[in-house]
Amino acid sequence: MKPDHLESRLISPDFTAPAPFGSLTTPIHHASTVTFANVAALRARSWLDEDSYTYGLHATPTTYELQHRIAELEGGAYALLAPSGLAAIAMINLGLLQSGDEFLIPDNVYLPNRELGETMLSSFGITCHTYPAADAEAAARLINANTRLLWIEAPGSVSMEVPDVPRLAALARERGVLSALDNTWSGGYFFQGFECGLDIVMHALTKYPSGGSDVLMGSVVTRDVKLHQRIKTAHMRLGLGVAGDDAYLVLRGLPSLLARLKVHEASAYRVAEWLSKREEIERVLHPGLPSCPGHAFWKRDFRGAGGLFSVVFKQSIEAGKVDAMVDALKLFSIGFSWGGSHSLAVPYALAQARTTRPWLTGALVRFYIGLEHTDDLLADLAQAFEALH
Ligand SMILES: Cc1ncc(COP(=O)(O)O)c(C=O)c1O
Repeated sequence: MKPDHLESRLISPDFTAPAPFGSLTTPIHHASTVTFANVAALRARSWLDEDSYTYGLHATPTTYELQHRIAELEGGAYALLAPSGLAAIAMINLGLLQSGDEFLIPDNVYLPNRELGETMLSSFGITCHTYPAADAEAAARLINANTRLLWIEAPGSVSMEVPDVPRLAALARERGVLSALDNTWSGGYFFQGFECGLDIVMHALTKYPSGGSDVLMGSVVTRDVKLHQRIKTAHMRLGLGVAGDDAYLVLRGLPSLLARLKVHEASAYRVAEWLSKREEIERVLHPGLPSCPGHAFWKRDFRGAGGLFSVVFKQSIEAGKVDAMVDALKLFSIGFSWGGSHSLAVPYALAQARTTRPWLTGALVRFYIGLEHTDDLLADLAQAFEALH
């Protein structure tokens, strides 16, 4: 029935794309209200049902489509989306831990994960213990009857050590502890967490999957439906929905993800090899090179490397000069996050990490190699390195 008044006709809820229309993109559905066909359908709703819609916060066809593709990327069965990578980390911790529980994180973990554990979670009576990233047996020794969750980052996103993921996953499983991997570095492609026995794979889609440096999003993938539903409960209780426009930006990046990763990888190898020959550099921390701690694990378990790696400068080069070198870069920007088309450089002060990492003898800079031509990046580095002398 067509309403009598223009006010009502302008609010028609009946729009659907006409039948012969086709396109190659996922439509963006904007919805807070999700409508039901009738009262019986409203009463029968369940936000746990994977195929139904109840409210815009929980799912729209756009966010479901992205969830399905991310589950596919990671080799899992169920995916949840969160408004940032950090929100995805928080959703896992808050979904699986309660007062009296303990959890383990590696000492090179993405710092906000550690800070969440040592501040808010600690105030809720949840204890976070740190284990040396490269020592799976040390992690196992910290497991006790209250331990519920073991976090792994492969590699650590600044100091770049590659851990023995299958061993950590097996130790956690033997002791009845859930294991969660931050798989952001690998782009979900160069490392397949579930094949290594992990329970949960988290990913900051902000980085490679979006590829645009313009959106924040995180994902949590599982294979076990009960585990998925426990984390989904936190997603629901905390209201961690994502907007359709943001989901679209990530969906737009996914078709080119593997092609981009391969370009980042090839260019990063060339830059890393160039850096390894410079007299100013003490060590290149690129997981694909033997100079990186844990390289043997990378070789055994990974399909490749992306664009992110770090270098340690010779001790004789003071940190101020390294900062001046970073300031002198013209094609590389200075900024956090990565995964987009622009190359980045960030100097890190890792004084604390030095106590357990004797190889961290000088200033450290993390490089992200974007999609510029490698020759241009090498020329930029060559001119900026003059600031070191
Ligand atoms: C390894 C890693 N995990 C998680 C995150 C968090 O992602 P987001 O910036 O989307 O919160 C980052 C961000 O830099 C990261 O590098």
